[in-house]
Amino acid sequence: MSDDATFMRLALALGRRGLGTTWPNPSVGAVVVEAATGRILGTGATAPGGRPHGEPLALAAAGEAARGATLYVTLEPCSHHGRTPPCTDAILAAGIARVVSALEDPDPRVAGRGHALLRQGGVAVETGLMREAAARDHIGHVTRVTRGRPALHLKLARTRDGFCAAAGPERLRITGPVADGAVHLWRAHADAILIGIGTARADDPALTVRLPGLAGRSPLRVVLDTHLRLSPASVLARTARDTPTLVLTTRSAPAHARRALEALGVAVATVPADAAGGIDLTAALADLGARGLTRLCSEGGPRLADALARADLIEACTLVTGPAELGTAGGLRALGPALRAALAGGGFRTVEALRLGADTAVTYERDRT
Ligand SMILES: NC(=O)c1ccc[n+]([C@@H]2O[C@H](COP(=O)([O-])OP(=O)(O)OC[C@H]3O[C@@H](n4cnc5c(N)ncnc54)[C@H](OP(=O)(O)O)[C@@H]3O)[C@@H](O)[C@H]2O)c1
Repeated sequence: MSDDATFMRLALALGRRGLGTTWPNPSVGAVVVEAATGRILGTGATAPGGRPHGEPLALAAAGEAARGATLYVTLEPCSHHGRTPPCTDAILAAGIARVVSALEDPDPRVAGRGHALLRQGGVAVETGLMREAAARDHIGHVTRVTRGRPALHLKLARTRDGFCAAAGPERLRITGPVADGAVHLWRAHADAILIGIGTARADDPALTVRLPGLAGRSPLRVVLDTHLRLSPASVLARTARDTPTLVLTTRSAPAHARRALEALGVAVATVPADAAGGIDLTAALADLGARGLTRLCSEGGPRLADALARADLIEACTLVTGPAELGTAGGLRALGPALRAALAGGGFRTVEALRLGADTAVTYERDRT
């Protein structure tokens, strides 16, 4: 691997650690390297809350030594005056001689202008190194600025014979501890977790991150609930003051149900209904995008999963398959017709297959080639 690739991998790793903490901004990693020796002079990543950006932090760590150095950055440096001054100004002021940037920022306020301004300032700019990895890490930011909604990662667990729940009320354990740990890490890297009211009522989940050291990384929990049936006695409602809960509902929600949930600290918002009377999923995701959310992990049941596939709102999907079988007893099928069709060639490709203890996790991504 070339030195450039090594330093870009470090920048990507730094940025990846902050996923889920920087929205509405992307989590950008930056590394300043002395050109002649390859010595790392400074590193940085977007701070929690989205500011400061990664580049000024890496430049500040490098100090005067940044003059003549190379900056590796996972996303095009910003060129506009937002709540922070443009990163391009900081890079020029620091005297950086060369910038290696993985991905152009599609944000219309930047969109190539960051790279162009640096070139105009006499900096050698190279773009596109590890673009695919950077595009994956920044999928939330890219989807929000290009489509006005967060990137949705759908997760479903199923038995070897394809069921995601038993037929009766008993709770089915499908996956083991290694896969459960992976799910909690995906949660920590999300800005919000999405479920339907079916899952809230059947499982009464907490949807928090329960990994050692990451307890503070529980994201916002979002429930789609057309008629506001979420019980005030549910874990999601009772813990809303510790871990925020947002319920998206429709005009059909009874006012007393809304008052009871809001009294517990649950945020309730009304979005349009679709033709079938459920929540209009495109409008719901646009609402979440307008709130600044960039990365959404769906842990809902098969109804929501299939409706998301039908509405073409899925950027990535992970199917975790456990070793158990329900056999003739049967249950609720994990894959509905729209999701099955999408994964079987409707614009998705397999990007990863992992063994997680006794379980396997296969991840599909929307094919952007
Ligand atoms: N194995 C897994 O990975 C996994 C994950 C989650 C859940 N589960 C299991 O799945 C079962 C629950 O399944 P589910 O499919 O009912 O849960 P769900 O998909 O989480 O919730 C479905 C409900 O969401 C509401 N909703 C509102 N707008 C919708 C829309 N546009 N499209 C679809 N749904 C919309 C509907 O109820 P309203 O009309 O009342 O709003 C709908 O019945 C439970 O047994 C649970 O244990 C399994």
